[in-house]
Amino acid sequence: MTRILVTGGEGQVGQALQRCDGPHGFEFLFPTRDHFDLSHAEQMMSYVNEHTIDGVINLAAYTAVDKAEDEPDEAFRINRDAVSHLAELTANRDIPLLHVSTDYVFSGELDRAYREDDATGPVSVYGASKEAGEHAVRLHNPNHAIIRTSWVVSPFRNNFIKTMLRLASERDQLNIVSDQFGAPTSAKDLADVLLLIMQRLLDDDNAARGTFHFSNDGVASWADIAELVMQHSGSLGGPHAQIHRIATSNYPTRAIRPKNSRLDTTKFATHFGYRPRPWQTAVRDIVGDLLQGDRP
Ligand SMILES: NC(=O)c1ccc[n+]([C@@H]2O[C@H](COP(=O)([O-])OP(=O)(O)OC[C@H]3O[C@@H](n4cnc5c(N)ncnc54)[C@H](OP(=O)(O)O)[C@@H]3O)[C@@H](O)[C@H]2O)c1
Repeated sequence: MTRILVTGGEGQVGQALQRCDGPHGFEFLFPTRDHFDLSHAEQMMSYVNEHTIDGVINLAAYTAVDKAEDEPDEAFRINRDAVSHLAELTANRDIPLLHVSTDYVFSGELDRAYREDDATGPVSVYGASKEAGEHAVRLHNPNHAIIRTSWVVSPFRNNFIKTMLRLASERDQLNIVSDQFGAPTSAKDLADVLLLIMQRLLDDDNAARGTFHFSNDGVASWADIAELVMQHSGSLGGPHAQIHRIATSNYPTRAIRPKNSRLDTTKFATHFGYRPRPWQTAVRDIVGDLLQGDRP
């Protein structure tokens, strides 16, 4: 059995991966932070030495975007330095590293969807730390794939859909930003894609390595997503609030977000023969799961 170590297994994407039931033929190791802390290089090395591992999927990250502005050292320690260790550990064992990164490596100034080879230019500490993590992976382990994704949503942990449903149960009206554009990504869809890519990295020495973009298909603002959440929740008898569209300037946050978070997924679709489903379908499914009580 092929054994895959997954870091960050309790996060949004990790929990989705834990529920993947396709015929992937992998045995997973999902160590918690207590047993595999990215801020402890020696613990990571011991763990990898003590287990037979055929590949690593790195989902663990410092993901508190606003807090990172005040904790840059911690953000870089996890998102750059620990990733660097992991890339070295995997390279020394000649095993592939599948690493997840973010649209926040871009400035958001481009007027089209970002392609993999577009220049990065993060506008936040979190984005800069993830960009540095990408560099570390490329530097230390050539047998890698980096998947940049955006606006991850799921029935797990904290995310935009869960926040919208919670707020709608407390208030009649919500002010939501309508001038940042991107696409939500279902953690479940991303988990399926990560397995597909890992399978390819393990089976095919000639499979494309490098950087790929993956999100659900289409373009949305946060307000567009909120409106769909409310519409679908209302139709299922769940909470519903009226959405007021506001500008980013009326919703100041500690960290700046890119105005344009759109990721062009053409390269991924071409290499892996997988076309992402529309974001609307993914969002409806998650709202349905949450309202049916499937919320760990
Ligand atoms: N969420 C998004 O919208 C989004 C968008 C683009 C890219 N991404 C990227 O996608 C990946 C997965 O994100 P996610 O949404 O699943 O994140 P998440 O829900 O915030 O989960 C992050 C995971 O990382 C773990 N972690 C954090 N610090 C750690 C440390 N020092 N040692 C070990 N584990 C540690 C957390 O452990 P605990 O369970 O102990 O807290 C948690 O399991 C990340 O690389 C993120 O940068 C996310």
